[in-house]
Amino acid sequence: MDRRRALLLENIDPVAAELLRAAGYETESVRGALDEDDLVAALDGVEVLGIRSKTQVTADVLRRRPGLAAVGAFCIGTNQIDLRAAAEAGVAVFNAPYSNTRSVVEMAIAEIIILARRLVDRDRALHAGTWDKSASGSHEIRGRTLGIVGYGNIGSQLSVLAEALGMRVLFYDLEDKLALGNAERCDTLEELLERAETVTLHVDGRAGNAGLFGAEQFSRMRRRSLFLNLSRGFVVDHEALRDHVLSGHVAGAAVDVFPDEPREQGDAFTSVLRGLPNVILTPHVGGSTQEAQHDIGRFVAGKLADYAGAGTTTLSVNLPTVALHGSSAARFALLHRNVPGVLARVDALVGEHGLNVDGQVLATRGELGYAVTDVSAALPPDLLAALRALPETVRLITVGTRAD
Ligand SMILES: NC(=O)c1ccc[n+]([C@@H]2O[C@H](COP(=O)([O-])OP(=O)(O)OC[C@H]3O[C@@H](n4cnc5c(N)ncnc54)[C@H](O)[C@@H]3O)[C@@H](O)[C@H]2O)c1
Repeated sequence: MDRRRALLLENIDPVAAELLRAAGYETESVRGALDEDDLVAALDGVEVLGIRSKTQVTADVLRRRPGLAAVGAFCIGTNQIDLRAAAEAGVAVFNAPYSNTRSVVEMAIAEIIILARRLVDRDRALHAGTWDKSASGSHEIRGRTLGIVGYGNIGSQLSVLAEALGMRVLFYDLEDKLALGNAERCDTLEELLERAETVTLHVDGRAGNAGLFGAEQFSRMRRRSLFLNLSRGFVVDHEALRDHVLSGHVAGAAVDVFPDEPREQGDAFTSVLRGLPNVILTPHVGGSTQEAQHDIGRFVAGKLADYAGAGTTTLSVNLPTVALHGSSAARFALLHRNVPGVLARVDALVGEHGLNVDGQVLATRGELGYAVTDVSAALPPDLLAALRALPETVRLITVGTRAD
């Protein structure tokens, strides 16, 4: 039998190759991204592809390489992959939604302290040769009130660390989130803005959040409060932020994300926020640490190995999610059109081949169904052929052997 092959592009942390090799994949790693034709050529015989944000996995790539079974996005976003086309082709896609959470939280904590102490201005002055030793406008964060907008993975972890440093924490979220520690929920954004001394945004990138924070919200903030955005650039009106920093209403800000970010390393950066006092600008590096890269490598490679080894689709971004625990003589997973009667036909075929179903789970997502089935003995080739031949079958995965 051919060796199962995995291809990792874009300098993915070596831990991913180690894990995929341990899962039985012959794994090749390439430093850069590939354009469409080079990608299609490189995917010859490849079952698992790992990419970061630059490689585009289009519907055309998927059509030209039907042997591809899974794509790992070793990053947070999955816009670079045509998820719908991948689902229709039965290609599972996984990403790493949590691996850099801690990195973002640590940067937010650092920036809250740096802004409260006005260290940016002290640093700039000293580099320019001016000794500016003063306590004026410089504060401890202990006892001060932090308002977190968006209490998801990042917001809630920030809440815990900020309290450990002695801050009082308020949060506002569209959903009814569990308040951690002594954090206090606000019923409205306005309430949070009127009470917090530092406001930090950690909302997700849903379209409705465009322009969430503008002149009205900045003027609702308490005078001389601090502002951070490490979420998405389009959430904040930067002209309004500039006006409120220049007027002194906002005493300092840290911004890591921008509406139009340069595409390439070294590209020019333009922003109305450049050169403002007590304003930290960083090039979308909140989640960029070696630890996060390592964790992304471990997390996504683990999901790909679980998919290949057990048919598990937990946290897949485009397929129904299923995990069947326990072991049996053999297992197959059938990705199929979500229409009535498929499971009954599958079980009838298994029975006709003298096998018993030991365990089975099904989940559906839109037009797709995904069923993982454990059976009592090895899978006869004619059963596999019959399952493949079902009109509803999108892809049959025989676990532990080559997916096709
Ligand atoms: N700067 C970086 O490098 C970096 C790294 C990782 C993540 N991020 C960004 O950080 C943000 C948060 O990430 P996460 O993993 O915590 O996401 P998440 O999905 O776990 O949490 C987002 C939370 O925001 C809430 N929310 C959405 N819109 C809201 C609104 N208008 N008002 C109040 N609450 C709202 C949601 O209900 C959810 O609880 C995302 O936008 C993500 O893209 C940035």
